[in-house]
Amino acid sequence: MAANSPVYGFLLSTANRLGDSSTNIFRSNEADIVDTVTRRQSGEPVRLLSVVGARPNFMKLAPLVTELSKLPEFRHRLVHTGQHYDDQLSGSFFQQLGLPRPDVNLEVGSGTHAAQTAEVMKRIEPVIEHYKPAAVLVVGDVNSTLAAALVAAKMKIPVAHIEAGLRSFDLTMPEEINRRLTDAVSDFLFVTERSGVDNLLREGVSRTKIFLVGNVMIDCLLRHRKLASQSNLLTDLGIRKKGLPVRDYGVLTLHRPSNVDDAKVLRGILEAIGEIAQDFPIFFPVHPRTQRNLERFRLTRLTSNALDRPASGLVLLEPLGYLDFLALNDAARIVFTDSGGIQEETTVLGVPCLTLRNNTERPATIVRGTNHLVGVDPDRIVSAARSALAGVRRMKRRPPLWDGRAAERIVAVLHRRLVD
Ligand code: UD1
Repeated sequence: MAANSPVYGFLLSTANRLGDSSTNIFRSNEADIVDTVTRRQSGEPVRLLSVVGARPNFMKLAPLVTELSKLPEFRHRLVHTGQHYDDQLSGSFFQQLGLPRPDVNLEVGSGTHAAQTAEVMKRIEPVIEHYKPAAVLVVGDVNSTLAAALVAAKMKIPVAHIEAGLRSFDLTMPEEINRRLTDAVSDFLFVTERSGVDNLLREGVSRTKIFLVGNVMIDCLLRHRKLASQSNLLTDLGIRKKGLPVRDYGVLTLHRPSNVDDAKVLRGILEAIGEIAQDFPIFFPVHPRTQRNLERFRLTRLTSNALDRPASGLVLLEPLGYLDFLALNDAARIVFTDSGGIQEETTVLGVPCLTLRNNTERPATIVRGTNHLVGVDPDRIVSAARSALAGVRRMKRRPPLWDGRAAERIVAVLHRRLVD
């Protein structure tokens, strides 16, 4: 490969950022490769490589990075695939969650599923080849998760999947494909809820690989809840005024292709939520994909602008940072969403959540939490919202092990298996 080629430049800077003085990472086959076992025998820290790519990954990894940094036995490096690249979907999360700057950014950007997955695979292979981690940690179910897991597994590097075992049983969701395939090649399957263990056992995964540890996303929420309560967002939106109780309001998030790429479905959802929003404002932080479609289908007329501080209606907001979004959900009267993670977060916050999907891979949020599956039929959304609003305001019940200590348990397992 020519020394002036862009790929060479990328690999060279990767080598530098991974903190290795020998910058020629192509010679690894000829060089005297020190394998993991030898490194351990020589007292070198065990190398771990984590991979994140998209918004819901960042809050899952943050508690793990904190726990890993406490143990000198581990040397941890972080790869960002660049699947999400905007400050609103990525940069601000690193800053607010105290995540270190990624050691490597693969800068894959947007694309079709095939192109995005392939690009992550191509670009991460030399990074793994060079760093030779004892394990690669992947989180969640996005394209970056699957791509990194496939590459590591083929290089015979153990894969640790955090948030393994969840199943919606709906193969039209790209995330369901990502989850199943990632689990199939993983060596450590860290599971958030009991249903995940049952799913994996049913699929024939050996019990020795499965660890029910709780939920790292909830670790992150519990660690940041107090800080989030200092957010000025509610004041800025005119919801909180000095000396007065916080006014009722709702929250809506939508980004699933099945909900936002079809004009009829999207309009039906917005009209139904608009009906509920006659009584109080419902704030709608908009994902870039959804924003594009609101404009394309001329649906922005169903929404209003936050700057006008409307007392009711569906109010558009830019995508929010982690702390503002947590503050917004924490005091909400009701949340409507098609996200996976928000079903879990509202369960822990005790806020009623109506999920605008026909299935969920997180049944604990229904059985032990505040979540109701309502689908996308407008009449059903309205009637489910009315019953939820007539019910309890806050519910205090959580799935087992959603106690803020999942990352600790994961690191303990990795320590036992890789260091001890
Ligand atoms: C991805 C994940 C989804 C996750 C969601 C959170 C997959 C299959 N999907 O979906 O599971 O819930 O992230 O947001 O991995 N875009 C920007 N700025 C960015 C990134 C994307 O404007 O920083 C736009 C691009 O136009 C892009 C579109 O958003 O085409 C979709 O991004 P993409 O990463 O393909 O999927 P998400 O819908 O965000």
